Amino acid sequence: MKDSGRTAEISIGGENYSFPILSGTTGPDVIDVRKLYASTGFFTFDPGFTSTASCESSITYIDGEAGMLQYRGYPIEELAEHSHFLEVCFLLLYGDLPSASQLEDFMSRVTNHTMVHEQMRNFFNGFRRDAHPMAIITGVMGAMSAFYHDSIDINDPVQREIASIRMIAKVPTIVAMAYKYSVGQPFCYPRNDLDYTSNFLRMCFEVPAEAYPENKALSRAMDRIFILHADHEQNASTSTVRLAGSSGANPFACIAAGIACLWGPSHGGANQACLEMLLEIGTTDRISEFIKRAKDPDDPFRLMGFGHRVYKNFDPRAKVMKESADEVLSVVDSGRKPTLQIAKELERIALEDEYFVSRRLYPNVDFYSGVILDALGFPTAMFTPIFALSRTVGWISQWKEMIAEPMQKIGRPRQLFVGPVERRYLPLHQR
Ligand code: ACO
Repeated sequence: MKDSGRTAEISIGGENYSFPILSGTTGPDVIDVRKLYASTGFFTFDPGFTSTASCESSITYIDGEAGMLQYRGYPIEELAEHSHFLEVCFLLLYGDLPSASQLEDFMSRVTNHTMVHEQMRNFFNGFRRDAHPMAIITGVMGAMSAFYHDSIDINDPVQREIASIRMIAKVPTIVAMAYKYSVGQPFCYPRNDLDYTSNFLRMCFEVPAEAYPENKALSRAMDRIFILHADHEQNASTSTVRLAGSSGANPFACIAAGIACLWGPSHGGANQACLEMLLEIGTTDRISEFIKRAKDPDDPFRLMGFGHRVYKNFDPRAKVMKESADEVLSVVDSGRKPTLQIAKELERIALEDEYFVSRRLYPNVDFYSGVILDALGFPTAMFTPIFALSRTVGWISQWKEMIAEPMQKIGRPRQLFVGPVERRYLPLHQR
């Protein structure tokens, strides 16, 4: 960051205070209020952090007005078209696209860590079969800190690196194991002759009795989902990872915290909620009924997969996802073509409706991703775990950036207290 040379003046009770305005490489400038409390005795009040930059970052840039998403400066559309997930992982982690030898080395390091400690199987057996896979992967990711003691010293850059590679390599194995456990099938070990994405699909769908044939088109669609979800700057789960990490917690615990946050329906859980909504709508003639409900202020129902805190014109990921949905449904006959038709028609109607237009509500990444995942064969409960798998590299990149930041300190927001002021304790018989 650099000082813009400009200042913001605040006048409180006749006293004037001046705060520096800082500039990044692009995007809105920020008012540096770090000394606000010390100099004025006031806090800022910003629930939901709608006006607060919590950190400096050089990883992902979003311009919500322009519908722009860039990883390390590269537009998401170009990465989705020309790159593949492990190359994007390298980019997010280290800042630049790899050379051929760097990529080969990185892919070999990830591939050599795909298996999980055999003892970890026992964790899965402790869960009920009907446990949500998000509950399982939250627990198992956290449990990794109990298995990989040699990579939890956050002050050692080598250990941080090993922990990062381990999580990226093992998260597909863990997510696939959670799926296998939930459907009562034996775990399927990773196969290192397959690429990252094909290996994940195989670990989910192969059974001892029947091989899962590799399908390049489906692997490509899955890989795109991974790329599109890989990072999204300081969203709720990433901020959770940073906050957890700011206390010095080990990386596995921090990523587990991120997974827990992602689970919520306003965040990663929306893809599951969206497909369930499309299935509930069922036929295009029922769309208007659901639009009406979404617009009713007395009805808590919202159009799932619609709206975004940051994107106010369109979500660039939704465009790529829509193309991918068309491609996948032209390859597999999942019986879900009507669902895709409903999604497209719902989008068309909503984008012409004054309610959605005036509130600048557009389809987000989750609107079409559920249709694709469903066509690939995943049950809705697996949608958010797949999001978590994809986002793991983003969380790790953000966590590593934070740890390496010299001015990093424990995250500790303040509050506007509105509870009772001091009261005297009364013994039970006097209340
Ligand atoms: N359907 C109907 N109305 C909506 C929707 C929706 N999906 N989203 C927002 N609105 C309305 C709100 O009711 C509100 O209307 P009002 O001004 O009349 O009260 C207005 O639009 C603004 O809504 P906010 O909740 O203030 O917007 P915010 O930016 O805080 O919320 C959010 C963003 C949480 C994503 C919201 O749009 C939503 O709940 N969408 C559905 C869930 C979803 O798809 N989440 C996925 C997000 S992307 C991701 O995590 C990968």
